[in-house]
Amino acid sequence: MKYLFWFTCMLAWSCGDAQHEHHHHGHDANHHMNQRPFGELVAHFEDPARDEWQQPDAVMARLGDLNGKTVMDIGSGTGYFSFRMARAGARVICADVDQRFLDYIMQKRDSIGSWAADRISTRLVPFDSADLQPGEADLVLIVDTYHHIEDRVAYFRQVRQGLTSGGKLVVIDFFKEEAPVGPPVEMKMAEETVMDELHQAGFEHVAVDVETLPYQYIITVW
Ligand SMILES: C[S@@+](CC[C@H](N)C(=O)[O-])C[C@H]1O[C@@H](n2cnc3c(N)ncnc32)[C@H](O)[C@@H]1O
Repeated sequence: MKYLFWFTCMLAWSCGDAQHEHHHHGHDANHHMNQRPFGELVAHFEDPARDEWQQPDAVMARLGDLNGKTVMDIGSGTGYFSFRMARAGARVICADVDQRFLDYIMQKRDSIGSWAADRISTRLVPFDSADLQPGEADLVLIVDTYHHIEDRVAYFRQVRQGLTSGGKLVVIDFFKEEAPVGPPVEMKMAEETVMDELHQAGFEHVAVDVETLPYQYIITVW
């Protein structure tokens, strides 16, 4: 079952200090992640055991028909979702701050067949912008990366401008609780905080799914 909330119903959820409280989240999260050697990060993101809890097929079903759509995958990493979305017919812009991941994606792209060449592109982005052109993307996906971003209200206000009319942003990240997977609990961000920030960024509608995945929420805003 899916829960549907409208932001107007959420105004009473006073999360006003969230932006301030989490200001240094991004630096901490990137520092934490990059304590591990690059090869280990790749193995970690691509670990076949991840599929058990990440349930990529269920997530893909949740994203709907992607055929012919332009999608940006912010914090694409190894492209765990980018390649799946490309296979579903999307043109995917893989955006990351780390050139090593983008190189990894290009190598993988070139090794899996010519179909991928038209559908996968990479974009090295700064920490504070997804560098989307106005109206460029039908869908923006951000998985396990929201908590890496700083000044999120400004960041996602700009992302919103980068969406087509009718375009959507989907945030998948970890419930703020102890779990066998994900970053330390203090780096995780509660779904109420995410929804409050995205409302401040100008998104008017939200659907939050806390049922599909065992350790993560799927928040869709438009
Ligand atoms: C935990 S990984 C998630 C990778 C991928 N989304 C997945 O689900 O496997 C976080 C990724 O976000 C990237 N990243 C960190 N800060 C970023 C920022 N401000 N903008 C874009 N990407 C960022 C990191 O380089 C890394 O590839």
